[in-house]
Amino acid sequence: MTTPLHQRLSEELRDRIRNGDWPEGSAVPSEAALCQEFGISRGPVRQALATLRAEALITGGRGRQPIVRASTPAQSFSTFMSFTEWAQSMKMRPGQKTLEVSRRPAPSDVAVKLGITEGDSIVSVSRLRLLDDEPTMLELSYFVLEVGRLLFDFDTDSGSIFHHLRNSGVDLYSGHHVIDAVAASNHDAQHLGIDEGSPLLRERRITSSSTGQPLEYAEDRYRPELASFAVDNTLPQ
Ligand code: GLP
Repeated sequence: MTTPLHQRLSEELRDRIRNGDWPEGSAVPSEAALCQEFGISRGPVRQALATLRAEALITGGRGRQPIVRASTPAQSFSTFMSFTEWAQSMKMRPGQKTLEVSRRPAPSDVAVKLGITEGDSIVSVSRLRLLDDEPTMLELSYFVLEVGRLLFDFDTDSGSIFHHLRNSGVDLYSGHHVIDAVAASNHDAQHLGIDEGSPLLRERRITSSSTGQPLEYAEDRYRPELASFAVDNTLPQ
């Protein structure tokens, strides 16, 4: 059986990216230029480019000139960072679209993480986070009420929640992180533009004050081709 044309083309283009013939940040040639170079029609060229986009090797968006992406961005846990700070550290543009902000009674599992009583009022915030306009992560944060209430007069679509809270005097100091893998739910899949059941990196995090009081519990789900996590450590003293 012969390999389909679009697959052979995506292999060739993938090699160009890996070999550095198409360096990071460079513009991918137009569909017309690729048709001409390979002497083929637009169909397989489009399919091959869609494959590279799905693999996050090039940036996406119909009608926009694709760019060769940097390798998967790593988020360091050596310093405590918000999503916005992480994006900025990689010279990428952070974005957010709010799905829901609500005041609600704490479910038991969240109450345990926040060190409060089940049913106490908390504020939950659900947002889609983007890196350079690409849907990257679904964020679900639960804030203790004294912190979360500061978000009622903040436009959570406008930028960094942590920046707003710090400016309001909230002592967001440390993070406890647990990373594992989960399958995308139907909700995850719709918002992240991926197939239901595809793997996601889940980061669960408790954010505490400098005195150790839990202020936020968050569950974030990242597309694994767009994020990785890096940890530095040394031998025990
Ligand atoms: C990361 C954290 C979340 C936190 C968010 C705030 O995503 N895992 O716990 O809520 O950063 O991000 P920003 O300050 O960019 O709104």
